[in-house]
Amino acid sequence: MESSDKKMVQFSEVSKFYGKKHVLSNLTLTVTQGEFVFITGPSGAGKSTLLKLIYCSERTDSGKIIIADWDITKLRQKIIPRLRRNIGMVFQNFRLFFNKTVFENVALALRFGGMHPHKIRGYVNEVLDKVKLLHTATAYPQYLSGGEQQRIVIARAMVIKPMLLLADEPTGNLDPESAKGIVDLFRDMNSKGTTILFATHSPDLYRGSGDRVLFVSEKYVDRDYAG
Ligand SMILES: Nc1ncnc2c1ncn2[C@@H]1O[C@H](COP(=O)(O)OP(=O)(O)OP(=O)(O)O)[C@@H](O)[C@H]1O
Ligand SMILES: [Mg+2]
Repeated sequence: MESSDKKMVQFSEVSKFYGKKHVLSNLTLTVTQGEFVFITGPSGAGKSTLLKLIYCSERTDSGKIIIADWDITKLRQKIIPRLRRNIGMVFQNFRLFFNKTVFENVALALRFGGMHPHKIRGYVNEVLDKVKLLHTATAYPQYLSGGEQQRIVIARAMVIKPMLLLADEPTGNLDPESAKGIVDLFRDMNSKGTTILFATHSPDLYRGSGDRVLFVSEKYVDRDYAG
């Protein structure tokens, strides 16, 4: 998809501490609407933290973050769910509900949003079909393989048709072939307009792709485009 000039993510001199530990230091970056951006860097560098700041599950200590037209830096707790209705998050640790079926895990966000059950069925079945889990809709997640559980989490992020999708190591536990399949799912979403931030340790996923790669380290560097 052609990216417009509209900015989706803007960090201005953002810093984050956990206690005395300095994780992100004066980070400034811009992601334009429609971009597909990989985020990489050593373990502990702050990739998950960066995504959590956007999702407001961690808050900045200094600096400013704007998501689409929202200044989220000082967003009140009460307003956060409204922001999250527009952002899909694939967490590094799955956070599935094991007492609910695959269908219910995916439907949950739509139910919270008050969508009509008939419409929910259509939305959920469509994404379950896309991630090839329609046949397991009534199963419980603990009986599924790691790769299948990962795809439930992805379906859950996709079903809200987010403007922005944050994926934290969504292929961490998968074989290379399944990992490529997951990347293809995200590329498909991206071609329909969703901006994607994809944190990963696997250079194989972006090498040669021409996608933008952000390298997070103690000294943050934007590594430009993957060759
Ligand atoms: N809630 C927290 N309290 C204290 N320290 C934290 C917390 N969350 C993260 N950290 C620390 O902040 C640093 C950055 O963590 P983060 O999870 O963002 O790294 P990461 O780049 O995603 O690493 P990985 O590649 O292993 O997923 C780490 O040293 C981590 O231990
Ligand atoms: Mg992480």
